[in-house]
Amino acid sequence: MQIICLAILCLVGIATYFLILKPLIPLLLLKLKLGERAILMFNPIFGFVGLLMNSIKINNDAMETINAALRKNPKAKIILSNYIYKPCIILAGSEYIKDTLIEHHRYEKINPFVINSFMQKGLILSEGERWKRQRKFLGLAFTFEKLTARIQMMNQVIEDIALKDSKTNLSQFLSKITGEIVINSFFGELAQGFQLEGKAAQVALTELTSDIGFIQFENPFILLKALIFKEKLWNILPCKKEKDIVRRVDNVRMKVRELILKRIEQLRENPIQDQDKMVFLDLYVTEYLKQTQKEQLIDVEEISHQFITLFFAGTDTTATATATCLYYLAQYPDIQNEILKEVQEVIGENEIKDKHLNKFVIMNAFIQEVLRFKNPSYTQIFRVVKNDTQLQDIRLKKGWALVQMQNANSLQDKNIDNATEFNYKRWLNKQNLIKNDNGFIYIPFSAGPRNCIGQHMAMMEMKIIIALLVRKYKILLNPEVKQIKFGIKFLQCVEPDNCLLFEKRI
Ligand code: HEM
Repeated sequence: MQIICLAILCLVGIATYFLILKPLIPLLLLKLKLGERAILMFNPIFGFVGLLMNSIKINNDAMETINAALRKNPKAKIILSNYIYKPCIILAGSEYIKDTLIEHHRYEKINPFVINSFMQKGLILSEGERWKRQRKFLGLAFTFEKLTARIQMMNQVIEDIALKDSKTNLSQFLSKITGEIVINSFFGELAQGFQLEGKAAQVALTELTSDIGFIQFENPFILLKALIFKEKLWNILPCKKEKDIVRRVDNVRMKVRELILKRIEQLRENPIQDQDKMVFLDLYVTEYLKQTQKEQLIDVEEISHQFITLFFAGTDTTATATATCLYYLAQYPDIQNEILKEVQEVIGENEIKDKHLNKFVIMNAFIQEVLRFKNPSYTQIFRVVKNDTQLQDIRLKKGWALVQMQNANSLQDKNIDNATEFNYKRWLNKQNLIKNDNGFIYIPFSAGPRNCIGQHMAMMEMKIIIALLVRKYKILLNPEVKQIKFGIKFLQCVEPDNCLLFEKRI
C-alpha cells in the first residue's frame, strides 16, 4: 500500500514538475524582467489553445480574453503562456512581430494538419532553399495577367453554386465556391468532374480539411494527443473518426497523384508553348519535365503537396473572411444598401470584369474593416524557436512555442482611433489612420518575405462573391439564431453556420 502511495506521489510530483513548474518558472522570470510589458496567462496543459476555448465559452469570442487584457494594459506587448509543458510566447507588440516575420528562418512552423506527407513539401511549410525556389515559381501563378484571366471563371462558379446551393450552411456554401475556384485555377480543364469520396472534389476536400481541424478542437483528448504526439497522433488509440480521416487523406493523395501523372503524360506528348495558356499545374509540370535526370528538384509529391497547400491556404481563409463580411452586411443593413447601390452603379446587370474591381470603393473599405475587426487568420501558424535566440529584449530558448498575434495591434486604440468600433468609413480617408505605423500593425495577410502570396486573388474573389450575392439576395440575420459566436475551427469564424438567410431580391 505504502509503495502504491509513494508511486502515486512520485507520478504527481513528476507531472507537477513537467506540466507546471517547467513551463512556469521561465515565464515568471520573464515576467519579472519585462514588468508591465508582459501579461502572464499561464493555463496548465491546454495553454494558449485553452485560453481561446475558455474565451469562446465566456465571451462568445475566441480572441476577446486576450484583446481585453491588452486593452486593459496598453503597455503590454507580450503574453506569457504555455504550450502543454513548454513556454509559449505570444507576441502582440508590432516591433516583435516585425522582427520574427523578417527573421522567419529562426522559427519553424508547426504543421497545422498534424498529418505527414500531406503538405510538408508545399510553400507554407517549406523552408530554406526549397521555400525560396517555390516562392519565386509560385509567383508566376499570381501575376496580374493570371489573376485577371480567372475573373470570368470566378463569375461563373459563383453564379452556378449560388443558384444550386441551399445556402443554409454558410461556411459550406462559401467553401464550395472558393474551393472550386482554387481547383479550377490549379487544374484547369482537368478539374472537370474531379470527384473524391463520390462527391465534387472541392466539397470532399473542404469537409476533410475542416474535419481535421475540428476534430482537435471538439475533443480535448485528441487535442492533447496532437499537442504531445504531433503527427503520430493518428496511430495512438485512434477512434473511428480518426481512422476515417486517415483513410480519406490517403485517398486524396492517391487521386491527386493520378491527375498529376495524367497531366505529365499529356504534356510530355503535347507540350504547351504559350505560358499565358497554362494553369498552375501546367506551369509546374512543364518545369518538372524540363529537369534533367541529374538534377531533380521537383517531384510528383511536391506538386501534389502544393495543390493541397493552395487548397488549404486559399479555400477556407477566403470563405471564412467572406462569411464574416456577409455577417456584417446582415448586421448593418445600411452598409448593405450602400454596397448594393455601388454594385448596381458599377456593374448594373453585367458580369464583373477586371476594370470594375477598382471601382468598388465602398466595398473595398468594408472588406478592409472586416479584416481589421475579425481577421480569420487571428494569428500566424504557430511556430517553434529553432535555436536559442535574442528577440529584442527577450532571450528565447530552443523549443519554446511562439505565437504571432497579427490581428491584435489593429484592435488597440493606441494604434487606431476608436479601434473597437466597426466603422468602414475610416478606410475611405486613409491619412494617419494607423499611428506610428511600422508596416506591421495592420497585416491581415501577414507581412515580410512570407506574406500571403494569394492576397490579391483573395481580395478579388471576396469582391466578386459579395457583389454577385448582394445584387441577387438580401442578406439577413436568421431570427431563429439567438447567439452569434466568433469561434475557431482552423480559423476564427462566425457561428453557427445557419446564422444568415438569403432572401431573393425581386
Ligand atoms: C482572406 C483570405 C486569406 C487570408 C486572410 C490569408 C492569410 C495568410 C496569412 C496570414 C499568411 C501567413 C501565414 C504564416 O506565415 O503563418 C498566408 C500565407 C500564405 N497564403 Fe494566404 N490568405 C488568404 C488567401 C489566400 C489564397 C486565396 C491563397 C492562394 C490560393 C493563399 C496562399 C497562401 C500561401 C501559399 C501562403 C504561404 C506563403 C509563404 O509561406 O511564403 N492565401 N496567408
